[in-house]
Amino acid sequence: MTAYSDYLREAVSAARIAGQYQKSRFASTLAIEMKGDKDLVTEVDKESERLIVEHLLSRFPGHDIIAEEGAYLHAGSPCRWIIDPVDGTTNYAHGYPWFCSSIALEVEGELVVGVIYNPIYDELFTALKGEGAYLNGNRLSVSTRMPLSNSLLGTGFPYDCATDPANNFANFITFQKSARGIRRAGAAALDLAYVAAGRLDGFWELKLKAWDVAAGVLMIREAGGVVTTFDGSTYDVFNDKIVASNGLIHDSMVATLAAVAAGVVG
Ligand code: IPD
Ligand code: CA
Ligand code: CA
Repeated sequence: MTAYSDYLREAVSAARIAGQYQKSRFASTLAIEMKGDKDLVTEVDKESERLIVEHLLSRFPGHDIIAEEGAYLHAGSPCRWIIDPVDGTTNYAHGYPWFCSSIALEVEGELVVGVIYNPIYDELFTALKGEGAYLNGNRLSVSTRMPLSNSLLGTGFPYDCATDPANNFANFITFQKSARGIRRAGAAALDLAYVAAGRLDGFWELKLKAWDVAAGVLMIREAGGVVTTFDGSTYDVFNDKIVASNGLIHDSMVATLAAVAAGVVG
């Protein structure tokens, strides 16, 4: 039987292969297609996914896969890789150097491996179930900052925010008033890695997909943080509302989201 650390090692290799390729193409002219009004996909997203999937399947033939740009294998394996080849595609396409690959492995539905790699900073975030979270080999823990008024938060907005009222705007306004600051950096996986690293104290977003969050959720839990749905209940990666934090400000974040949903603040 393969040890989880072997899976982690190969996920790291795949992320580095993709990252090297992304860096080599960064700020070059790219073929770009539109998935929706705002939602782009570039040739680098597709080729990064091909490189990651090729590497993982060469090591672990027969594993299941779901990935953003369409790689899908469902052979009934207990092992399933969940992959966002480029998180932060809009940034990438605009030459804004803030993006990553996110690779997670579930075994029998449980997250056991998470890798998030920012090739521009050469920052490799890793997590192994029960073994902690690391940045370039150094152990991570979430921040100890509290209360919410002293906290720096991350978030983002869905691509259909111009047309769907579930757009996160009211939450954003309310947290902007009650927290120290909010960053909308454009790569949810990196936001989650930053919560694990204590660089952000909390994060919330809606309509994210499993590939945006899977690696980061394991990372935050392994770094001592908390991840739930907006109402504070148990989160799984197919939930469309996520709140993640250092734990200390979690109740305040959940209470704020509830107050916005009830129309009490906004
Ligand atoms: C997006 C980014 C962004 C978030 C979007 C995601 P993509 O992923 O993570 O920060 O706000 O909702 O879809 O399209 O760059 O892989
Ligand atoms: Ca993404
Ligand atoms: Ca993506």
